[in-house]
Amino acid sequence: MAASPWFWNRLARTYSRQKIADQAAYEAKLEKTRAYFTPDSEVLEIGCGTGTTAVLHAPHVRHIRALDFSKNMIAIARGKAHAAGVNNIDFEIGSVDDLDAAPESYDVILAMSILHLLDNRREVIARLFELLKPGGVLVSSTVCVQKSGLFGAIVPVGRALGILPTLNFLHKDSLLAEFRAAGFEIEHEWLPGKGLVLFAVARKPG
Ligand SMILES: C[S@@+](CC[C@H](N)C(=O)[O-])C[C@H]1O[C@@H](n2cnc3c(N)ncnc32)[C@H](O)[C@@H]1O
Repeated sequence: MAASPWFWNRLARTYSRQKIADQAAYEAKLEKTRAYFTPDSEVLEIGCGTGTTAVLHAPHVRHIRALDFSKNMIAIARGKAHAAGVNNIDFEIGSVDDLDAAPESYDVILAMSILHLLDNRREVIARLFELLKPGGVLVSSTVCVQKSGLFGAIVPVGRALGILPTLNFLHKDSLLAEFRAAGFEIEHEWLPGKGLVLFAVARKPG
């Protein structure tokens, strides 16, 4: 089943009002990510949602291209950037499947809370590898949960009914193996809090 922005368009307004679940971990991720920025960095963010992360990172880089296939998410993101006086982000409505860019375009690519949503995750990871400059990094935060219990039963049913998006069950070691298979070297891995989300920095060898 092809992924659809329908669910995310409906969720956008609520999503933008939600409190970040673990603020300390979120801030630590921002800080760890900034260690890879320079004022000249060209950044791509896929699945940028309502733009919170892009707006916070924007003062630390040259430019961010922030992409999401939900037009409602992007509308909110544009409003946030405008309100913050940030003008070096280009928000774009589009799918990761149709990412138009030349190879080796980006210093840093951000994939925050999106890789577990993609049916074609391996292809996307390979494409992101191609889009990074040699020495560039893919910074990701990915839900890594196993198919078990009530959660394991609810997700497939919700998806079949069209009321939940794709959520792929995966183990963090499988994801790290997928990064390595694409050619990345794992530079940093961290499982904050309950250990359900893998924050990883994967480098394309220089
Ligand atoms: C869980 S939200 C994460 C948003 C943001 N990155 C964050 O950390 O708050 C996932 C986002 O990915 C977007 N998304 C899902 N699949 C996508 C795809 N194939 N192409 C582009 N965006 C996608 C959704 O529209 C949604 O905004």
